[in-house]
Amino acid sequence: MTAIWDSLWVDIDLATMQTHAPYGAIHDGALGIKDGRIAWVGPRAQLPGAPDRLADAVIEGGGRWMTPGLIDCHTHILFGGERSREFELRLEGASYEEIARAGGGIVSTVAATRAASEAELVAGATRRLKPFLAEGVTTIEVKSGYGLDLESELKMLRAARRLGEMLPVSVRTSFLGAHAVPQEFQGRQPEYVALICREMLPAVARSGLADAVDGFCEGIAFTLDETARIFETATALGLRVKLHAEQLSDLGGAALAARFGALSADHLECLGEDGVAAMAAAGTVAVLLPGANYFLAETRRPPVAALRRAGVPIALASNCNPGSAPVLSLLLMLSMGCTLFRLTPEEALAGVTRQAARALGLADRGLLAPGLRADLAVWDIEGPAALAYWIGGNPCAAVVRNGTVVKSFS
Ligand code: NIG
Repeated sequence: MTAIWDSLWVDIDLATMQTHAPYGAIHDGALGIKDGRIAWVGPRAQLPGAPDRLADAVIEGGGRWMTPGLIDCHTHILFGGERSREFELRLEGASYEEIARAGGGIVSTVAATRAASEAELVAGATRRLKPFLAEGVTTIEVKSGYGLDLESELKMLRAARRLGEMLPVSVRTSFLGAHAVPQEFQGRQPEYVALICREMLPAVARSGLADAVDGFCEGIAFTLDETARIFETATALGLRVKLHAEQLSDLGGAALAARFGALSADHLECLGEDGVAAMAAAGTVAVLLPGANYFLAETRRPPVAALRRAGVPIALASNCNPGSAPVLSLLLMLSMGCTLFRLTPEEALAGVTRQAARALGLADRGLLAPGLRADLAVWDIEGPAALAYWIGGNPCAAVVRNGTVVKSFS
């Protein structure tokens, strides 16, 4: 008899992240893979035959846990230079906003990123990406936003695509031309916004290098009106939008994003009730970024209880960037999401699987379910809550991407 599946995992507990049970758990489960997709998931006792007849390769999980491959849905992992000096300044009392207004912050990373070659950007991001991959991350979002001129933004987006070609990870790109006003446009912000709408967005759309358009709506960045203009242009060009909103103040960015059917509104420490209601009505995902909250020693916290009550999907991400979140671990975000934001460990894990997939508009991953991509992570843990429990360390024992083992038991 010819095997029906390419491979079959047995002796494994599954956190499917479906909603029938906590973590969608199936104890003593089995998972069959065919052509890079999950072909069968269920209790081993219900397999439709003997494992060695069902699949060409039978993999013993050794009683470990399996989850969907992790998804980091908000990163700025591509950049030149670093900003540890700003960290020292903040410890001496300067605020993130003060540093930004004094010409440091995002704008200082722009100079280093413009000066870097595409190959240098890829090499730097690869170094930072490797710890994420070792932790079971199989999909990552990468933003531009440190180029702030067309050529440098396209260089960043090309470098991001290159990461996905070189490494075993799916890369989703976001064009973030509206991250900050570049030095050469200081005092001429409306002209920079006009440039984004007239030249940059159409060129980015033509290039096919961006999967979405992002912006930073904030006192130190772009106003609500400017963000609306950028979103109108992006939407007319057929690009989905998302927004850095309500990070430092409540400008109504999340409600604006929801009005444009945004995939997500991210940060949200200062989100008010109207924003929560608008996001719930639009199905916009709340992407929470505890690494930035921790690193900037923020005292305001996103309104998790209100988001939960309103049924807003909540995702968690690393926000890896040189200014507000020099974070190299998505697992650490699970811990911080629970401790700082009071998510449950199950919500935290859903935030980097099911909900993160939704934040990226990806319906083909984020769960262990038949028909979805076989992107999987296998863990040396007692139970799924342990992923949010340990601080540091890496219990990831194996990773499968698109049906292929890319990290195997040592
Ligand atoms: O998501 N808030 C804006 N953008 C980044 C920070 C980028 C930087 O400081 O370089 C963030 O936190």
